[in-house]
Amino acid sequence: MSHATASRLIASAALCAMLAGFSAAIAGGFDLPTKRTDLSEADLKRVTDVTQPTRDFSKAEQYEAMQAGAATSIDPVTEDSFSHVSANIPFEEEQNFKLGNALFRKLWVSSPSSTQASDGLGPLFNARSCMSCHVNDGRGKPPEGGPSATSMFLRLARAAKTPEEERAIANADVVNFPDPVYGHQLQDLAVPGLAAEGRMAIRYDEEKVTLGDGEVVSLRRPNYAATNLAYGPLDAATTISARMAPAMIGLGLIEAIPEADILAHADPDDADGDGISGKAAIVRDHRSGKIALGRFGWKAQNATVRDQSADAFANDVGISTPDRPDAHGDCTKAEEKCLDMPTGVQKRLGAEEAPGPILDLVTFYSENLAVPARRKASFPETLRGKRIFYETGCISCHVPKFVTRRDAPDRAQAFQLIWPYSDFLLHDMGDGLADGQQVGLASGREWRTPPLWGIGLTRTVSGHSFFLHDGRARDLTEAILWHGGEAEKARNAFSTLSKDDRGALITFLESL
Ligand code: HEC
Ligand code: HEC
Repeated sequence: MSHATASRLIASAALCAMLAGFSAAIAGGFDLPTKRTDLSEADLKRVTDVTQPTRDFSKAEQYEAMQAGAATSIDPVTEDSFSHVSANIPFEEEQNFKLGNALFRKLWVSSPSSTQASDGLGPLFNARSCMSCHVNDGRGKPPEGGPSATSMFLRLARAAKTPEEERAIANADVVNFPDPVYGHQLQDLAVPGLAAEGRMAIRYDEEKVTLGDGEVVSLRRPNYAATNLAYGPLDAATTISARMAPAMIGLGLIEAIPEADILAHADPDDADGDGISGKAAIVRDHRSGKIALGRFGWKAQNATVRDQSADAFANDVGISTPDRPDAHGDCTKAEEKCLDMPTGVQKRLGAEEAPGPILDLVTFYSENLAVPARRKASFPETLRGKRIFYETGCISCHVPKFVTRRDAPDRAQAFQLIWPYSDFLLHDMGDGLADGQQVGLASGREWRTPPLWGIGLTRTVSGHSFFLHDGRARDLTEAILWHGGEAEKARNAFSTLSKDDRGALITFLESL
């Protein structure tokens, strides 16, 4: 790319930083820190310098291969590459990671059962363990031919209907409203004696796209429906959104990125005129009840790994925790029989099916799955691809690097230079990817930029290469070609590259 483009990139980063205070004020009028408070002025300057996008593509940057800082795993590449503990975790804490791992794999059973400690599944559920969806701690996949959609499900929700409901969303008290009968998501499994809610049906339509050099790529456009519905039709206002389980690596580090550094990239009104806005997801931290920056889930609907995990226990497995104490999970009032089913609460163990320590350990585990080291980061072909990644504008959203909080509660995550390749903001991705479902501040066209670290190991860990929120893309090229809306320019730049340059870009992605 021209030197001019690189300077423009840097200029726009500087402008974004200048506008940081401004953007945070816009983010719903809530008070989120717009300046880091964990660093001295001198350290702040060092951090600002080191996180500037590079302009030198002749060699790998310093520390680049260790993409999660000292937490990076350097274990040999195998299908277990996403299952290692953060490399810098203190020895005493490894035991907690192992216990958390066992709980992440634990298969819950329906109540009552003889193995009381595993009781409580359902009554409605999508899978019996966390690991059933996050297989090998990696991403899920769409149901290829087979009837089971284990690692993918349909979220059900409608937008606000009344001014009062609009206020509830604006105040981040709720992110949207569930279907009156089926609740927040369609559970395609249920305990014996209860009907499952229904099934997710997918039909794909192939659409040909011709690239600049004449090469034709076929994209499959999904159509989703909820079928075999056991409790009558969905409400007319209910929208459905298919979600695939994302990989579980580096989540604690993402939690430790200072709010101010994420907000610095937000530009909700596109004040710098680059066609890319980037909006912060403002949600409530479930435990403290305070306003927080959403970071997790495909629409950044959860502020913490703990909130996302408690939601998963409640909705995906049907297990109550102190944070989501209802033992009947996603059963609604309209599903009377569901509410009559026995629960797995064992008074001697606590008031919930999974008492506090279980949620603590699963959260700790989920926060400490290591990101593997880059492969071939300094190979000429990779560096060429990296340059193209920068030049085509991918880094406007897939922001290369951050330095985590110095005062992170988990010391292993503190003050690390990390390379997630995400701004963790919401972007309008166009009609093609739109699901029409509002989630908090995220509209039905907006998605959170997913981190790209580890993406090159998808095939090794998960045995497939399905990408995007619903796994519609069958490889990285298709994933890029689905980009629209704010990413339309970057997508078009990609599609006019020569085959050779596209190959180099993919080589770079595969090195992540
Ligand atoms: C039925 C499949 C399924 C099960 C079971 C499941 N998950 Fe997930 N998980 C998902 C999906 C789908 C998402 C994305 C959710 C969204 O965007 O709405 C997700 C997202 C997450 C995330 C956020 C990751 C990120 O990068 O944003 C965490 C953390 C997580 N799950 C933890 C858990 C834990 C802990 C359990 C077990 C209690 C669990 N999950 C069980 C499917 C599942
Ligand atoms: C305007 C912001 C934006 C730009 C620019 C952008 N992306 Fe993305 N990217 C996203 C979002 C948001 C998603 C998730 C979309 C979804 O799942 O529906 C995504 C998803 C992806 C994925 C799939 C990730 C996964 O985990 O499934 C890849 C790969 C990717 N982008 C690569 C690129 C490349 C390469 C470029 C430059 C040619 C680029 N992106 C430009 C926002 C952007």
